[in-house]
Amino acid sequence: MGSKAAILDFIGIELAKVHSSKRPFVDLFAGACAISGGFGHIGKIISNDIQEYSAVIASTYLKRAEKIGNFDIVELANEIAHKNLATLPVGLTYPVAATLAAFNKVEKRNRALLHREFDNSHHLFTRVYSGTWWSAEQCVWIDAIRETLDALLGSGKIEHADFNFGLTCLMHAMAYTSQGTGHYAQYRDAKTEAGMADISKYRQASVPAIFKRKFESLLKWHLENVIDLDHKMIAMDYRECLASIEPSVVYADPPYAFVHYSRFYHAMETIVKYDYPEIQHMRGAVVKGRYRSDRHQSPFCIRTQVNGAFVNLFKGVKESGSDLLLSYSNTGMIDIEMLMRLASSTFGKEYEVWFDHMDHTHMTMGRRADHSRQVKESLIIARKRQASE
Ligand SMILES: C[S@@+](CC[C@H](N)C(=O)[O-])C[C@H]1O[C@@H](n2cnc3c(N)ncnc32)[C@H](O)[C@@H]1O
Repeated sequence: MGSKAAILDFIGIELAKVHSSKRPFVDLFAGACAISGGFGHIGKIISNDIQEYSAVIASTYLKRAEKIGNFDIVELANEIAHKNLATLPVGLTYPVAATLAAFNKVEKRNRALLHREFDNSHHLFTRVYSGTWWSAEQCVWIDAIRETLDALLGSGKIEHADFNFGLTCLMHAMAYTSQGTGHYAQYRDAKTEAGMADISKYRQASVPAIFKRKFESLLKWHLENVIDLDHKMIAMDYRECLASIEPSVVYADPPYAFVHYSRFYHAMETIVKYDYPEIQHMRGAVVKGRYRSDRHQSPFCIRTQVNGAFVNLFKGVKESGSDLLLSYSNTGMIDIEMLMRLASSTFGKEYEVWFDHMDHTHMTMGRRADHSRQVKESLIIARKRQASE
Protein backbone atom coordinates (compact mmCIF):
# COMPACT_ATOMS: atom_id res chain seq x y z
CA MET A 1 0.00 0.00 0.00
CA GLY A 2 1.45 3.37 -1.01
CA SER A 3 4.61 1.98 -2.59
CA LYS A 4 6.87 4.65 -4.01
CA ALA A 5 8.40 2.32 -6.60
CA ALA A 6 6.73 4.26 -9.44
CA ILE A 7 8.19 7.66 -8.48
CA LEU A 8 11.81 6.74 -7.82
CA ASP A 9 13.01 9.05 -10.63
CA PHE A 10 11.35 12.03 -8.97
CA ILE A 11 12.79 11.13 -5.57
CA GLY A 12 16.22 10.68 -7.19
CA ILE A 13 16.14 14.17 -8.70
CA GLU A 14 15.13 15.76 -5.40
CA LEU A 15 17.63 13.66 -3.48
CA ALA A 16 20.45 15.02 -5.64
CA LYS A 17 19.62 18.50 -4.28
CA VAL A 18 20.60 17.54 -0.73
CA HIS A 19 22.63 14.36 -0.77
CA SER A 20 26.37 13.95 -0.73
CA SER A 21 27.71 10.42 -1.08
CA LYS A 22 29.42 10.66 2.31
CA ARG A 23 26.15 10.61 4.25
CA PRO A 24 23.81 7.62 4.64
CA PHE A 25 20.34 7.75 3.12
CA VAL A 26 17.77 6.79 5.78
CA ASP A 27 14.44 5.33 4.63
CA LEU A 28 12.56 6.04 7.86
CA PHE A 29 9.20 4.40 7.02
CA ALA A 30 10.47 1.83 4.55
CA GLY A 31 7.39 -0.42 4.06
CA ALA A 32 8.03 -2.56 0.99
CA CYS A 33 11.46 -0.89 0.58
CA ALA A 34 11.16 0.83 -2.80
CA ILE A 35 14.02 3.13 -1.73
CA SER A 36 16.42 0.27 -0.95
CA GLY A 37 15.48 -1.32 -4.28
CA GLY A 38 16.04 1.93 -6.16
CA PHE A 39 19.08 3.43 -4.44
CA GLY A 40 20.84 0.54 -2.67
CA HIS A 41 23.62 0.46 -5.28
CA ILE A 42 24.40 4.20 -4.92
CA GLY A 43 25.37 4.64 -1.27
CA LYS A 44 24.82 3.46 2.28
CA ILE A 45 21.12 2.92 3.11
CA ILE A 46 19.64 2.67 6.59
CA SER A 47 16.22 1.10 6.14
CA ASN A 48 13.81 1.43 9.06
CA ASP A 49 10.17 0.55 9.73
CA ILE A 50 8.30 -0.32 12.90
CA GLN A 51 7.16 -3.53 11.18
CA GLU A 52 9.83 -6.23 11.22
CA TYR A 53 8.85 -7.70 7.87
CA SER A 54 10.10 -4.52 6.22
CA ALA A 55 13.67 -5.19 7.47
CA VAL A 56 13.46 -8.67 5.95
CA ILE A 57 12.50 -7.26 2.53
CA ALA A 58 15.20 -4.57 2.88
CA SER A 59 17.78 -7.28 3.54
CA THR A 60 16.89 -8.94 0.24
CA TYR A 61 17.70 -5.65 -1.55
CA LEU A 62 20.77 -4.78 0.53
CA LYS A 63 22.58 -7.86 1.89
CA ARG A 64 24.01 -10.66 -0.23
CA ALA A 65 22.52 -14.13 0.17
CA GLU A 66 25.44 -16.28 -0.98
CA LYS A 67 24.50 -19.67 0.47
CA ILE A 68 20.79 -20.27 0.06
CA GLY A 69 21.19 -21.15 -3.62
CA ASN A 70 22.96 -24.35 -2.50
CA PHE A 71 19.69 -25.72 -1.10
CA ASP A 72 16.42 -26.88 -2.63
CA ILE A 73 14.10 -25.42 0.00
CA VAL A 74 10.94 -26.95 -1.50
CA GLU A 75 12.50 -30.41 -1.61
CA LEU A 76 13.53 -30.08 2.05
CA ALA A 77 10.11 -28.74 3.09
CA ASN A 78 8.29 -31.43 1.13
CA GLU A 79 9.00 -34.16 3.66
CA ILE A 80 7.87 -31.96 6.59
CA ALA A 81 4.71 -30.84 4.77
CA HIS A 82 3.68 -34.39 3.88
CA LYS A 83 4.27 -35.67 7.38
CA ASN A 84 2.20 -32.81 8.84
CA LEU A 85 -0.59 -33.08 6.27
CA ALA A 86 -1.03 -36.72 7.24
CA THR A 87 -1.79 -35.73 10.85
CA LEU A 88 -4.68 -33.39 9.97
CA PRO A 89 -8.33 -34.46 10.24
CA VAL A 90 -10.10 -35.55 7.07
CA GLY A 91 -12.49 -33.29 5.14
CA LEU A 92 -10.20 -30.26 4.82
CA THR A 93 -9.46 -30.59 1.10
CA TYR A 94 -11.29 -28.20 -1.19
CA PRO A 95 -13.01 -29.95 -4.09
CA VAL A 96 -12.41 -28.32 -7.49
CA ALA A 97 -16.18 -28.25 -8.10
CA ALA A 98 -18.66 -28.03 -5.21
CA THR A 99 -21.99 -26.51 -4.24
CA LEU A 100 -21.81 -23.31 -2.21
CA ALA A 101 -23.04 -25.16 0.89
CA ALA A 102 -20.48 -27.96 0.52
CA PHE A 103 -17.67 -25.45 -0.11
CA ASN A 104 -18.57 -23.48 3.01
CA LYS A 105 -18.60 -26.67 5.09
CA VAL A 106 -14.99 -27.26 4.06
CA GLU A 107 -14.17 -23.61 4.89
CA LYS A 108 -15.67 -24.09 8.35
CA ARG A 109 -13.72 -27.30 9.01
CA ASN A 110 -10.49 -25.52 7.97
CA ARG A 111 -11.21 -22.59 10.31
CA ALA A 112 -11.93 -24.93 13.20
CA LEU A 113 -8.24 -25.94 13.32
CA LEU A 114 -7.87 -22.82 15.48
CA HIS A 115 -9.19 -24.91 18.38
CA ARG A 116 -7.05 -27.99 17.76
CA GLU A 117 -3.96 -29.00 19.75
CA PHE A 118 -0.79 -29.51 17.70
CA ASP A 119 2.38 -31.18 18.86
CA ASN A 120 4.74 -30.36 15.99
CA SER A 121 7.10 -27.39 16.35
CA HIS A 122 5.87 -25.28 13.41
CA HIS A 123 2.05 -25.12 13.27
CA LEU A 124 1.38 -21.38 13.67
CA PHE A 125 -0.19 -20.76 10.26
CA THR A 126 -1.98 -24.11 10.14
CA ARG A 127 -3.70 -23.41 13.42
CA VAL A 128 -4.43 -19.68 13.08
CA TYR A 129 -5.02 -19.12 9.36
CA SER A 130 -6.50 -22.31 7.88
CA GLY A 131 -9.71 -21.43 6.01
CA THR A 132 -9.00 -17.69 6.10
CA TRP A 133 -6.61 -16.24 3.51
CA TRP A 134 -5.20 -19.70 2.90
CA SER A 135 -6.35 -23.31 3.02
CA ALA A 136 -5.01 -25.74 5.65
CA GLU A 137 -2.83 -27.36 3.00
CA GLN A 138 -1.34 -24.00 1.98
CA CYS A 139 -0.75 -23.14 5.67
CA VAL A 140 1.02 -26.48 6.24
CA TRP A 141 3.37 -25.56 3.39
CA ILE A 142 3.94 -22.04 4.74
CA ASP A 143 4.84 -23.56 8.13
CA ALA A 144 7.04 -26.24 6.53
CA ILE A 145 9.04 -23.70 4.51
CA ARG A 146 9.51 -21.56 7.61
CA GLU A 147 10.65 -24.68 9.54
CA THR A 148 13.14 -25.52 6.77
CA LEU A 149 14.61 -21.99 6.84
CA ASP A 150 14.84 -22.11 10.65
CA ALA A 151 16.66 -25.45 10.51
CA LEU A 152 19.17 -24.22 7.92
CA LEU A 153 19.87 -21.04 9.89
CA GLY A 154 20.02 -22.87 13.24
CA SER A 155 22.57 -25.38 11.94
CA GLY A 156 24.76 -22.62 10.47
CA LYS A 157 24.28 -23.80 6.89
CA ILE A 158 22.92 -20.39 5.85
CA GLU A 159 23.42 -16.82 7.11
CA HIS A 160 20.83 -14.22 8.12
CA ALA A 161 20.83 -12.64 4.66
CA ASP A 162 19.96 -16.07 3.18
CA PHE A 163 17.23 -16.59 5.76
CA ASN A 164 15.73 -13.17 4.97
CA PHE A 165 15.90 -13.92 1.26
CA GLY A 166 13.95 -17.17 1.84
CA LEU A 167 11.38 -15.36 4.01
CA THR A 168 10.92 -12.70 1.31
CA CYS A 169 10.11 -15.45 -1.21
CA LEU A 170 7.73 -16.98 1.32
CA MET A 171 5.93 -13.62 1.78
CA HIS A 172 5.63 -13.50 -2.01
CA ALA A 173 4.14 -17.01 -2.15
CA MET A 174 1.73 -16.05 0.65
CA ALA A 175 0.60 -12.97 -1.30
CA TYR A 176 0.02 -14.87 -4.53
CA THR A 177 -1.91 -17.74 -2.94
CA SER A 178 -4.02 -15.56 -0.62
CA GLN A 179 -7.73 -15.29 -1.45
CA GLY A 180 -7.78 -11.71 -0.07
CA THR A 181 -7.69 -8.50 -2.03
CA GLY A 182 -4.00 -7.61 -1.87
CA HIS A 183 -3.70 -7.31 1.90
CA TYR A 184 -4.69 -9.14 5.08
CA ALA A 185 -7.30 -6.81 6.59
CA GLN A 186 -10.24 -9.08 5.74
CA TYR A 187 -10.50 -12.40 3.98
CA ARG A 188 -13.47 -13.03 1.73
CA ASP A 189 -16.45 -15.26 2.52
CA ALA A 190 -18.00 -17.35 -0.24
CA LYS A 191 -21.47 -15.80 -0.38
CA THR A 192 -22.29 -16.40 -4.05
CA GLU A 193 -21.36 -18.97 -6.70
CA ALA A 194 -19.16 -16.38 -8.44
CA GLY A 195 -17.43 -15.47 -5.18
CA MET A 196 -16.85 -19.14 -4.43
CA ALA A 197 -15.37 -19.72 -7.91
CA ASP A 198 -12.88 -16.94 -7.38
CA ILE A 199 -11.90 -18.00 -3.85
CA SER A 200 -11.61 -21.56 -5.09
CA LYS A 201 -8.97 -20.54 -7.66
CA TYR A 202 -6.75 -19.27 -4.85
CA ARG A 203 -7.46 -22.31 -2.66
CA GLN A 204 -6.03 -24.50 -5.45
CA ALA A 205 -2.85 -22.40 -5.91
CA SER A 206 0.41 -24.07 -4.94
CA VAL A 207 2.57 -22.41 -2.25
CA PRO A 208 5.67 -24.51 -3.14
CA ALA A 209 5.35 -23.87 -6.91
CA ILE A 210 5.00 -20.09 -6.46
CA PHE A 211 7.77 -20.03 -3.85
CA LYS A 212 10.13 -21.94 -6.14
CA ARG A 213 9.44 -19.75 -9.16
CA LYS A 214 10.09 -16.56 -7.18
CA PHE A 215 13.14 -18.06 -5.46
CA GLU A 216 14.82 -18.84 -8.79
CA SER A 217 14.09 -15.54 -10.54
CA LEU A 218 14.79 -13.38 -7.47
CA LEU A 219 18.07 -15.15 -6.68
CA LYS A 220 19.36 -14.47 -10.19
CA TRP A 221 18.43 -10.76 -9.90
CA HIS A 222 19.78 -10.61 -6.35
CA LEU A 223 23.22 -12.06 -7.12
CA GLU A 224 23.62 -9.84 -10.18
CA ASN A 225 22.55 -6.61 -8.47
CA VAL A 226 22.97 -6.48 -4.71
CA ILE A 227 26.09 -4.78 -3.37
CA ASP A 228 26.52 -4.35 0.37
CA LEU A 229 27.66 -0.77 0.94
CA ASP A 230 27.57 -1.26 4.71
CA HIS A 231 23.77 -0.94 4.65
CA LYS A 232 21.71 -1.37 7.82
CA MET A 233 18.21 -2.64 8.53
CA ILE A 234 16.38 -1.41 11.65
CA ALA A 235 12.90 -2.14 13.06
CA MET A 236 12.30 0.77 15.42
CA ASP A 237 9.83 3.53 16.05
CA TYR A 238 10.86 6.50 13.86
CA ARG A 239 11.82 8.64 16.90
CA GLU A 240 14.19 5.99 18.24
CA CYS A 241 15.69 5.48 14.81
CA LEU A 242 16.30 9.23 14.41
CA ALA A 243 17.95 9.34 17.84
CA SER A 244 20.38 6.61 16.71
CA ILE A 245 21.66 8.05 13.41
CA GLU A 246 24.65 10.14 12.41
CA PRO A 247 24.01 13.20 10.16
CA SER A 248 22.21 11.70 7.14
CA VAL A 249 19.63 12.42 4.49
CA VAL A 250 16.29 11.16 5.78
CA TYR A 251 13.52 10.12 3.42
CA ALA A 252 10.18 9.99 5.24
CA ASP A 253 7.05 8.43 3.79
CA PRO A 254 4.80 8.09 6.83
CA PRO A 255 1.25 6.71 6.68
CA TYR A 256 -1.30 9.29 5.51
CA ALA A 257 -4.56 7.53 6.31
CA PHE A 258 -6.68 6.57 9.26
CA VAL A 259 -6.18 2.89 8.56
CA HIS A 260 -3.29 1.30 10.38
CA TYR A 261 -0.77 -0.52 8.20
CA SER A 262 -0.36 -3.17 10.86
CA ARG A 263 -3.96 -4.28 10.24
CA PHE A 264 -3.29 -4.81 6.55
CA TYR A 265 0.00 -6.64 6.92
CA HIS A 266 -0.25 -8.53 10.23
CA ALA A 267 0.20 -11.93 8.55
CA MET A 268 3.56 -10.82 7.11
CA GLU A 269 4.64 -9.63 10.53
CA THR A 270 3.63 -13.01 11.96
CA ILE A 271 5.51 -15.13 9.38
CA VAL A 272 8.61 -13.04 10.13
CA LYS A 273 8.31 -13.05 13.92
CA TYR A 274 6.82 -16.57 14.08
CA ASP A 275 6.06 -15.94 17.71
CA TYR A 276 2.64 -17.59 18.20
CA PRO A 277 1.06 -14.21 19.03
CA GLU A 278 -2.03 -13.70 21.10
CA ILE A 279 -4.92 -13.15 18.70
CA GLN A 280 -7.24 -10.17 19.20
CA HIS A 281 -10.65 -10.91 20.74
CA MET A 282 -13.79 -8.84 20.74
CA ARG A 283 -16.79 -9.59 22.96
CA GLY A 284 -15.29 -12.93 23.91
CA ALA A 285 -14.70 -14.12 20.34
CA VAL A 286 -11.62 -14.15 18.09
CA VAL A 287 -11.91 -11.24 15.62
CA LYS A 288 -12.55 -12.27 12.04
CA GLY A 289 -9.23 -10.87 10.77
CA ARG A 290 -7.33 -12.90 13.41
CA TYR A 291 -5.06 -9.93 14.07
CA ARG A 292 -2.15 -9.95 16.49
CA SER A 293 -3.25 -8.24 19.67
CA ASP A 294 0.08 -6.35 19.85
CA ARG A 295 -0.57 -4.61 16.52
CA HIS A 296 1.18 -1.22 16.24
CA GLN A 297 -1.11 1.83 16.18
CA SER A 298 0.71 4.66 14.43
CA PRO A 299 0.32 8.26 15.69
CA PHE A 300 0.32 9.34 12.02
CA CYS A 301 -3.03 7.54 11.67
CA ILE A 302 -4.72 9.16 14.69
CA ARG A 303 -6.27 12.59 14.06
CA THR A 304 -5.43 13.98 17.51
CA GLN A 305 -1.80 12.83 17.34
CA VAL A 306 -0.83 13.52 13.75
CA ASN A 307 0.48 17.10 14.18
CA GLY A 308 2.62 16.08 17.14
CA ALA A 309 3.91 13.08 15.18
CA PHE A 310 5.18 15.39 12.43
CA VAL A 311 6.74 17.82 14.94
CA ASN A 312 8.61 14.86 16.50
CA LEU A 313 9.77 13.85 13.04
CA PHE A 314 11.12 17.35 12.30
CA LYS A 315 12.76 17.59 15.75
CA GLY A 316 14.44 14.20 15.36
CA VAL A 317 15.82 15.09 11.93
CA LYS A 318 17.12 18.43 13.23
CA GLU A 319 18.70 16.94 16.36
CA SER A 320 20.57 14.38 14.26
CA GLY A 321 21.92 17.17 12.01
CA SER A 322 20.29 15.60 8.95
CA ASP A 323 18.40 16.86 5.92
CA LEU A 324 14.86 15.70 5.17
CA LEU A 325 12.81 14.69 2.15
CA LEU A 326 9.21 14.18 3.26
CA SER A 327 6.71 12.65 0.84
CA TYR A 328 3.38 14.38 1.13
CA SER A 329 0.02 12.83 0.23
CA ASN A 330 -3.12 14.85 0.43
CA THR A 331 -5.54 12.42 2.02
CA GLY A 332 -7.08 14.81 4.51
CA MET A 333 -5.07 13.78 7.58
CA ILE A 334 -3.14 17.05 7.53
CA ASP A 335 -3.06 19.83 4.94
CA ILE A 336 0.06 21.07 3.27
CA GLU A 337 -0.10 24.61 4.71
CA MET A 338 -0.22 23.24 8.24
CA LEU A 339 2.62 20.84 7.52
CA MET A 340 4.81 23.59 6.03
CA ARG A 341 4.09 25.81 9.06
CA LEU A 342 5.05 23.02 11.47
CA ALA A 343 8.20 22.28 9.44
CA SER A 344 9.33 25.92 9.22
CA SER A 345 8.73 26.63 12.90
CA THR A 346 10.44 23.43 14.09
CA PHE A 347 13.45 23.65 11.78
CA GLY A 348 13.87 27.42 12.32
CA LYS A 349 16.54 29.58 10.72
CA GLU A 350 19.18 26.86 10.56
CA TYR A 351 17.25 25.15 7.76
CA GLU A 352 15.91 26.08 4.36
CA VAL A 353 12.46 24.48 3.92
CA TRP A 354 10.67 24.24 0.58
CA PHE A 355 8.04 22.24 -1.32
CA ASP A 356 8.50 20.53 -4.69
CA HIS A 357 6.00 18.52 -6.68
CA MET A 358 6.37 16.17 -9.57
CA ASP A 359 5.88 18.21 -12.71
CA HIS A 360 5.70 17.50 -16.38
CA THR A 361 9.48 17.29 -16.76
CA HIS A 362 9.58 14.39 -14.35
CA MET A 363 6.75 12.68 -16.15
CA THR A 364 8.77 12.37 -19.37
CA MET A 365 11.54 10.27 -17.85
CA GLY A 366 10.45 6.95 -19.27
CA ARG A 367 7.58 6.50 -16.87
CA ARG A 368 4.14 5.69 -18.19
CA ALA A 369 2.10 8.89 -18.08
CA ASP A 370 -0.23 8.75 -15.13
CA HIS A 371 -1.86 12.12 -14.91
CA SER A 372 -3.14 11.80 -11.34
CA ARG A 373 0.39 11.33 -10.01
CA GLN A 374 1.34 14.78 -11.25
CA VAL A 375 -0.71 16.49 -8.60
CA LYS A 376 -0.45 13.85 -5.94
CA GLU A 377 3.28 13.33 -5.55
CA SER A 378 5.08 16.07 -3.71
CA LEU A 379 7.96 16.47 -1.31
CA ILE A 380 8.74 18.84 1.53
CA ILE A 381 12.49 19.34 1.68
CA ALA A 382 14.41 20.68 4.67
CA ARG A 383 18.09 21.35 4.08
CA LYS A 384 20.50 22.40 6.80
CA ARG A 385 22.20 25.66 5.86
CA GLN A 386 25.98 25.50 5.55
CA ALA A 387 28.08 27.79 7.81
CA SER A 388 28.77 30.05 4.80
CA GLU A 389 25.05 30.58 3.93
C1 LIG B 1 3.36 4.84 3.36
S1 LIG B 1 4.09 3.41 4.08
C2 LIG B 1 5.70 3.44 3.40
C3 LIG B 1 5.76 2.88 1.99
C4 LIG B 1 7.16 2.81 1.42
N1 LIG B 1 7.71 4.13 1.14
C5 LIG B 1 7.20 1.97 0.14
O1 LIG B 1 7.55 2.48 -0.93
O2 LIG B 1 6.85 0.78 0.22
C6 LIG B 1 4.29 3.88 5.75
C7 LIG B 1 5.07 2.92 6.64
O3 LIG B 1 5.26 3.55 7.92
C8 LIG B 1 5.37 2.53 8.90
N2 LIG B 1 5.15 3.13 10.23
C9 LIG B 1 3.99 3.54 10.79
N3 LIG B 1 4.22 4.10 12.01
C10 LIG B 1 5.56 4.04 12.24
C11 LIG B 1 6.41 4.45 13.32
N4 LIG B 1 5.89 4.99 14.43
N5 LIG B 1 7.75 4.26 13.20
C12 LIG B 1 8.27 3.66 12.10
N6 LIG B 1 7.51 3.24 11.05
C13 LIG B 1 6.17 3.43 11.12
C14 LIG B 1 4.31 1.53 8.48
O4 LIG B 1 4.59 0.25 9.02
C15 LIG B 1 4.40 1.59 6.95
O5 LIG B 1 5.21 0.55 6.43
